[in-house]
Amino acid sequence: MTAPASGPAGNEYDHPSIAAAYDAENAWGRDDDFFLALAAETLGSRLLDLGCGTGRLTVALAAAGHDVTGVDPAGAMLAVARTKPGAEKVNWIEGGAASARTRSFDLALMTSHVAQVFVDDLEWSDTLRHLARALGPGGRLAFDSRDPAARAWEGWPGVSSIDDGTVSFTSTNELPDGTVLAVDSILRFRSEPELRASVESAGFAIEAIYGGWSREPVGDGDGELIVVATRRTA
Ligand SMILES: C[S@@+](CC[C@H](N)C(=O)[O-])C[C@H]1O[C@@H](n2cnc3c(N)ncnc32)[C@H](O)[C@@H]1O
Repeated sequence: MTAPASGPAGNEYDHPSIAAAYDAENAWGRDDDFFLALAAETLGSRLLDLGCGTGRLTVALAAAGHDVTGVDPAGAMLAVARTKPGAEKVNWIEGGAASARTRSFDLALMTSHVAQVFVDDLEWSDTLRHLARALGPGGRLAFDSRDPAARAWEGWPGVSSIDDGTVSFTSTNELPDGTVLAVDSILRFRSEPELRASVESAGFAIEAIYGGWSREPVGDGDGELIVVATRRTA
């Protein structure tokens, strides 16, 4: 039997089976090392992890001594996060960027391509503005987004459309009881100039955009656009 997976607000992650399987399919990697190192080198230790999911990185950041708030609209993902050793050190919030308190953070992260779930440009610019407000002047923002020039979707099964920077695809997950979940996803691939312009117009100065997890230039490395920016003071 194939059943569609979709959460109450159309977020495919807000499904108990998807959340339960997430960590097994998303092992710790060089991206996590990168963000952990970035947190260690940032002045101030109040961290916001937007789209924290099952808290893979969130609990590691808290274990490293940071004061961490994990925000995600998917209750099913947060339910998994809350069961982890060390989860009690994290302030978990079910919601989106608007739930982050004003001027309360030194560093805001969106990891594992959370930035690409914001398909609509208005939703993306609103999210960046909420993050700028949550950080206050001098705070840092870092996130990853796949570089459209690397065309990662060409290696993905189930891609049904590629249109105007947006890729739609269906993946299937087999559950222990034999049920097959069909998961529909849409991701936005923004180019380096698009990311740069959107981040700057939300009140940030770009520190760097890397192409890979060893801080390679764009076009080299891992097919990523890894943005590190600082909230402008005025
Ligand atoms: C690929 S997972 C990444 C999870 C986590 N950052 C990690 O490194 O494993 C994407 C996450 O983005 C969350 N998400 C979806 N829509 C969101 C929104 N509007 N605001 C914040 N997070 C959102 C999903 O619920 C999901 O947990």
